Amino acid sequence: MKLPLLIAKHSDRLVKAGIDQGLAEVEIILCHLLDVDRLKLYLDGEKQLQQQHLVQLEEIVQRRATRYPLQYILGEAWFYGRCFSVSPAVMVPTPETEMLCEAAMGFIRSREYKKPRILDIGAGSGVISVTLANEIQDCSITAVDISDEALEIARQNASKLGGEEKIEFLRSDFFSTVDANNGFDLILSNPPYISEDEYRELPPEVLADPKISLVADDDGLGAIASIIDAAPNYLAPGGRIMLEIGYNQADRVSLLTEKDDRFRYITILKDLNDIDRVVILACDD
Ligand SMILES: C[S@@+](CC[C@H](N)C(=O)[O-])C[C@H]1O[C@@H](n2cnc3c(N)ncnc32)[C@H](O)[C@@H]1O
Repeated sequence: MKLPLLIAKHSDRLVKAGIDQGLAEVEIILCHLLDVDRLKLYLDGEKQLQQQHLVQLEEIVQRRATRYPLQYILGEAWFYGRCFSVSPAVMVPTPETEMLCEAAMGFIRSREYKKPRILDIGAGSGVISVTLANEIQDCSITAVDISDEALEIARQNASKLGGEEKIEFLRSDFFSTVDANNGFDLILSNPPYISEDEYRELPPEVLADPKISLVADDDGLGAIASIIDAAPNYLAPGGRIMLEIGYNQADRVSLLTEKDDRFRYITILKDLNDIDRVVILACDD
């Protein structure tokens, strides 16, 4: 079968299973199987296709049609131009979190830090820590998570993608094992921020993420509130706290900080869909 026809046939199956990006996903699967980029796939992928690839393609598409996430099937997910290993022990990273990384890099570059200290709370697969370790020339990162399995995957990603020597991995329930004497210049987190009610409405792909990475108590605000409460004690003078938040949480987060006189400034950044996505807090100038 000709490549365009093969792609169309499998993409059709995925679209019928309710996966809007069926075509893009079949392209990703074929690129993964042939170890080529998209351009090369269309230029000479057909010549490289062998029977074993067709069998693998069939198996993957069949599994994906059950709405199991493609990233878990392939064991990899792209984030900020790097291919991270993922397993069901970690949340599949989302493009919104790239915005948190951009904000973090923008802040660090705007200062003349020699070696900024960064704390990543809820490191998961390590996408934030490993990205910052690779993008910021000299820095020292503490990456914490409550899940040992997640920390193991984050460690593997740092070793595979670089930056390992800049990151200390630590099992911690939020700040429980973090040394308060460190004085971090930047504390950032993509915490769990979904309520139990919202969780029940999630698509099957997101429900495959570990629940601990998604759901927080107090109507989704519990983890954010815990981090905001403790973070000022771990922040160096001039430092910033940056958190990814849910689409409907900006007002409640603002209220939390207004009532707390340790905070001097709050900035909310919107994502490309004009949704409040990142909150930045400062305790001094
Ligand atoms: C939304 S995921 C973010 C993962 C990764 N940073 C990313 O952006 O893809 C939240 C992470 O917080 C971790 N987590 C949940 N509760 C925690 C707690 N009490 N202390 C530390 N980490 C926690 C979860 O294990 C999960 O890895």
